[in-house]
Amino acid sequence: MEEKRYLTFALTKGRLADKTLALLEKVGITCEEMKDKSSRKLIFVNEELKLKFFLAKGPDVPTYVEYGAADIGVTGKDILLEEGRRVYEVLDLGFGKCRMCVCGPKEARELLKHHEMIRVASKYPVIAKDYFYDKKHQTVDIIKLNGSVELGPIVGLSDVIVDIVETGGTLKENGLEVLEEICPISARMIVNPVSMQMESERIRKILKSLREITEGEGKEKGL
Ligand code: PRP
Repeated sequence: MEEKRYLTFALTKGRLADKTLALLEKVGITCEEMKDKSSRKLIFVNEELKLKFFLAKGPDVPTYVEYGAADIGVTGKDILLEEGRRVYEVLDLGFGKCRMCVCGPKEARELLKHHEMIRVASKYPVIAKDYFYDKKHQTVDIIKLNGSVELGPIVGLSDVIVDIVETGGTLKENGLEVLEEICPISARMIVNPVSMQMESERIRKILKSLREITEGEGKEKGL
C-alpha cells in the first residue's frame, strides 16, 4: 500500500492551542510530544497517525495554510477577517468566543451617530475599514496599533477603538464601553483548498467526527 503522507496542522499558540488539542483528543487525534510544556521544539509528530503539528502566532496561521505549509489550521474568526487569506473555513469550533466591537467612552456614541470624521485605533485595520467604509459609509481615520488598544481613547490618540471584547473587564476597568457590535468571533478550522482535494478522504473524516462533537456540545448548551 502507498505510504500515507503527513497531514500538517498549524495551531494558534496559547489558550486556543490547548483547547484545540483537547478537542482533537476527543476524536482520537493525539500528540503526546506536545504535552511537554518545557519543550522548545517547534514541530511535533504523531508517527502512527502520520500527523504533524506546529504552533504559530494567530495571524500567521492562515498564511501557512494558504501556502500549503500546513493542510489544516485553527485560528480566530477575527484573524481570518483581517488577513483575508485564500483558505476554506470549514468549521466553527465553538470556543474562543468573543465579539468584535466599536468601543470608547460613552460620549463617543454621539460621534458615531452623526457620521463625523473620527479617529479609530485598532489592531484590525481591515475589519475597521470594512465596517466604517462599507457598512456604515462613514469616513474615518484608522490608526493601526499592535496591542493595548484601549489606551487609544484614554490618552487622546483616537476617539474610539475597534477591538475584541470577551468579558468586558478591560473596557470597564478603563472607563470605556461597547458602543456598537460588529460581529461575533470564535475559533475556526481552516483547510488549504488543494489539500482539501488531494487528501479529501482523510480531511473529511476528521471534519465529520469534529462536527459531531461540536454540534453535540452546542446542543448541550442549548445553542
Ligand atoms: C484582548 C483585547 C482586549 C481584551 C478583551 O487583548 O484586545 O484588550 O483582550 O478581553 P476582556 O473583554 O475579557 O477584558 P489581549 O489580551 O489579546 O492583549 P492585547 O490587546 O495587548 O493584544
